[in-house]
Amino acid sequence: MVPKNLAVFASGRGSNFQAILKNIISGRIPASVKLCITNNPAAGVIEIAQQHDIAVRVINPKSFPDAGAFNDAILKEVTEFRIDYIILAGYLKLIGRQIVEQYENRIINIHPALLPAFGGKGMYGHHVHEAIFESGVRISGATVHLVNSEYDSGPIVLQKSVDISDVSSPGEIAERVLKIEHEIFPEAVKLLVEDKLIVKGKRVEICAQ
Ligand code: GRF
Repeated sequence: MVPKNLAVFASGRGSNFQAILKNIISGRIPASVKLCITNNPAAGVIEIAQQHDIAVRVINPKSFPDAGAFNDAILKEVTEFRIDYIILAGYLKLIGRQIVEQYENRIINIHPALLPAFGGKGMYGHHVHEAIFESGVRISGATVHLVNSEYDSGPIVLQKSVDISDVSSPGEIAERVLKIEHEIFPEAVKLLVEDKLIVKGKRVEICAQ
């Protein structure tokens, strides 16, 4: 199989980016990360990308007159780098309609909760784990899903749960969930680049072979 070109979009520390890179380096995921896009000039992902000789582009929506121009700037880069798939690894900006249309079922995101619960606008990072802690639910987990133009509502690819009945803080939930993220995100990226996902409406079938 010809290795696929990936772009990783991220806004923060980049532990999921690292988990994916590890699986690429070991040969488990037949792909190569060609580009890292961030909106945050202080993001840890920049250093990770540089350590692996991956091109970085800081594209901040505030530098553009409107969302259309911001999305055009992103599209220009992904087109130039011949990107096949976009991996959202802790990216805090909404992906514009033009990009979703051009990359239909080729954009994947990780969310640190069991969607459709605890998702949607404003539900990111520590906000998610705080809401989960407050709600008193006894199980949480992570979800990997394909991306459409609404927050956290695309077809679900993989989910895994974890018992949080004995935690004493939102931070403890985040820690347990992050471990799961690092397992299921590389697994889902592998399925995606190997073309094993068949999308039927909101449902995703995974080919056995
Ligand atoms: C993860 O919890 C991810 O689910 C969320 O943002 C966090 C990013 O962590 N969307 P990292 O930057 O991958 O370490």
